[in-house]
Amino acid sequence: GLMDQFADIRHQEVELSKKLGIEKCLIVAGNSDEQPRVIEEMGKLVDESLVAILPSGKNVIAVMGGITMAAIAKALTKRVGENRELLFVPARGGVGEAVDIQANTVSSQMAIHTGGQHRALYVPEQLSEEAFEPLLKEPAIQKVIGLIRNSDAVIHSVGDAIRMAKRRDMPVSVIEMLKKKHAVGEAFGYFFDELGNVVYKIPRIGLQLEDLTDKKCVLAVAGGASKAKAIAAYMRHAPKQTCLITDEGAANLILKE
Ligand code: G3H
Repeated sequence: GLMDQFADIRHQEVELSKKLGIEKCLIVAGNSDEQPRVIEEMGKLVDESLVAILPSGKNVIAVMGGITMAAIAKALTKRVGENRELLFVPARGGVGEAVDIQANTVSSQMAIHTGGQHRALYVPEQLSEEAFEPLLKEPAIQKVIGLIRNSDAVIHSVGDAIRMAKRRDMPVSVIEMLKKKHAVGEAFGYFFDELGNVVYKIPRIGLQLEDLTDKKCVLAVAGGASKAKAIAAYMRHAPKQTCLITDEGAANLILKE
């Protein structure tokens, strides 16, 4: 019956967090590869988690981009903003996404839905390293980067390495290199092999992977059977305090491995 199903999922959540070596996992029923509605359910859990976890008062929340994150933003509610002063910032820009799913967009959407504020990081997505170097020295940009690196909470997704590289129009030579190095997962513009080693990093500003170590709240939101390998790979590198919000599509496959 329904109660058994509920108990099964709670049990799976414990098994999954043990397997991935992280503090907590939350699993929603279904597979978001086939049922887009499942992402909405993950969004509700992100909303509830933020309501439960974030301390009252000031909170700076750094968020990544992507299709998942854009959908999660729509599921957030004013409850998160109650008794809190929320400031959303993009964790890292410039990974080459379309405008509607860029971290800046997600950050502003999250602010709108929760009744918080946001700051944009104005560094064009398609920019050579030589061109963004001087931008980094701009005081206004420095200020946002400071907020990002000292943020209290981080919300991000995880993607399949090659799928992400292609979607972001990364050079063919880089994609070949990623394949040669067996990259399977991507998060924050970093690429990971199955053992969780970083095999490539898009040279971009903002949050660096090492900044995650001392964050109190890190939410990773990623589901779908097609992301199982990517999630497992990234979690080998992820900080222990990470809370993964996923679906059965991904969880069942990871637990089977
Ligand atoms: O970093 C991970 C990717 O942004 C995930 O993107 O939600 O569009 O699959 P996605």
